[in-house]
Parts: sequence; C-alpha cells; structure tokens
Amino acid sequence: MNSGFWKKLEKPFSVLAPMAGVTDFAFRQILAEIAKPDVIYTEMVTTEGLYAKGEAEYALQMKYGENERLIVAQIFGSDPKKIEAAARIAEERGFDGVDINMGCPQDIVVRQGAGAGLIRTPELAKEIIQAAKGAVKNIPVSVKTRTGFKSHEEFRGWISSIATEAPAAITIHGRTREMKGRGAADWEMIRSAGEVIREINKEIIILGNGDIRNIEDGEKKAGEYGMDGFMIGRAAIGNPWSFSRHNPSIEEKLTTMSRHMKIYHETFGDASFDRLKTHFSEYLSGFPGAKDLRERVMLVKSPREVEEILASFKV
Ligand SMILES: Cc1cc2nc3c(=O)[nH]c(=O)nc-3n(C[C@H](O)[C@H](O)[C@H](O)COP(=O)(O)O)c2cc1C
Repeated sequence: MNSGFWKKLEKPFSVLAPMAGVTDFAFRQILAEIAKPDVIYTEMVTTEGLYAKGEAEYALQMKYGENERLIVAQIFGSDPKKIEAAARIAEERGFDGVDINMGCPQDIVVRQGAGAGLIRTPELAKEIIQAAKGAVKNIPVSVKTRTGFKSHEEFRGWISSIATEAPAAITIHGRTREMKGRGAADWEMIRSAGEVIREINKEIIILGNGDIRNIEDGEKKAGEYGMDGFMIGRAAIGNPWSFSRHNPSIEEKLTTMSRHMKIYHETFGDASFDRLKTHFSEYLSGFPGAKDLRERVMLVKSPREVEEILASFKV
C-alpha cells in the first residue's frame, strides 16, 4: 500500500471535506490564506466528463495553488477504465492524492452507479479501487463513503469490502445514502466502522465525518471515536476560520468575503456568480445588521453591487 502523506500527518489531523459548488479554487485559496487544514479536498470531478471531453474542459475545476498543499483531487464515476484515466490525470497534474467518491447521495450520481450507488455494487467498488491504485505511481488513493445505503448496519459488509482493497485512507460519513444530509451523523457507527477497518488492515488511515462544528469539536470527536483525522464540511462554508481558534471581527468577515469574491471573479469570470451566495450568507451572519446586509446581497448579481452594499455598511 502507498500511504503517501497520510502516514506522515500528526494525529488527529484536520481535512476540508469535498463539497461540489463550494470547495472551488477561490474558497480554497481563502482557506489557505486564513487557516489551512492539514489536507484540502477539491470538489468532486466527473470521470465520465474527463474521459469524454478531455481534461482541458475541467482545467478550472482541477486548478489549485501550491499554497493549498496537501491537496487531494476527488473523482467520481462507476467505470474502472475512466477512474483509471482520471487518477492518472490527477497525478500528472501534481495532486498529493486522489480520492474516490463512494458517498454522493444525489439521484443523478447514484443512477449512474457512482457515489453512494457503489455501496450496492461492492465488487465494482473493489475493481474501481484497484483501477485507481494501478493507475498512479506515487500518490495515495483514498475513499470517502457512508455507513450504508439504506441502513447503517450495512457498514459491516460494505466497509469490509473496501478495506480489503487497502486504500491508503477511508473517510466515513456517519449517514446513510437514504439520509442524504438529514438527521444526525451517527458517530457510534463511525467508531464501529473504524474498528472493522482496523481488524482488516491496521495500515489504513481512518477519518470521521459528519456534523463537526469546528477544530476543537473535530479533535474531541477524533479522540473519542478512535479516528486518525476528521473532516469538516458545512461548518467551513463562508467560515474560513473554522480550522483556526480565532473568532473573526466584523471587519475581518467583510474584508475576507470581498477578497473571496475577487478571487472567484478573477478565476471564473461572471459564471455562476450565485454559487458565492452560499458563502455570503455565512460571512454575513452573527453580528448586528448582518440580516439586512444578507438580504440585500442575495438580490444582486455582480461583484460591483456587492461591493457597494458592503461599502455602505458602517461597523
Ligand atoms: C453542498 C455540498 C456539496 C457536497 N459535495 C460533495 C462532494 O463533491 N464529494 C463528497 O464526497 N461529498 C460531498 N458532500 C458531503 C460532504 O463532503 C460531507 O461528507 C457532509 O457534508 C457531512 O459533513 P459535514 O456535516 O461536516 O458537512 C457535499 C456536501 C454538501 C453540503
């Protein structure tokens, strides 16, 4: 097994979860500048698309800065041949690792047999891990998944299947596919899944994921539930301080939001400006006058208009 950087991290280590539409180049740059976790994941990249259209089409999605290392490219798909090609591209582009998404619950992904759909086809999932491992020379291959498709109890069979293929690391999100993002992540299940992995192969690095609020909470959960590291997702949206112990001032929030928007605009132009609004609603929260700012910002369509609104705000 090539554990790559995973084995060198001091435990418990922190990781930014992959989030489609959220953990793009602009946000990751902000995170790298403000409070970088030990490892950062990209958004998931389609292996079908990469294969059919070529990597130039996905250049922006696969763009990262040296300041983001350690940076892992997450890919999804259900065809081992396409996974193999994508893993090779990730290595050629200089990523520190490649992660296979086996947890995405969206219908459009599951219908292709990818993401959480792979929980139902463990033999194919095994083949996919083998294909990715065979494709790369020096970077580690990891897997991110859920406890089960319909019920948590599926984890025994499912997690055992992937652990026998010895990926360098496995992230366990304590929700089933059916739960999607609803209900609470079950950390007892995460603990048990971790135990199953250790029984099969002690070399595999184990990460827990689900509902972690901040770095203190992550360290506590990793300790309590026997994890090597922890992954934070939603708590980091519009909150690049989530991996620090710093409580940002209002000025810091507004300045950072403005810089985030600038990097986004420089990178992606006017495309999908609304994607930024997920972040805006978090930057603009937790201080007097935030609600009014938030409501006004949600209605506009350009960085210039957002800047005007921020400039009119008196702290
Ligand atoms: C908007 C959004 C997009 C997501 N996209 C991905 C993705 O591309 N790949 C993936 O493995 N998980 C994805 N997830 C799941 C997260 O990585 C994470 O497992 C989940 O949000 C639970 O962690 P949290 O409670 O810390 O947010 C996404 C979640 C959200 C909210």
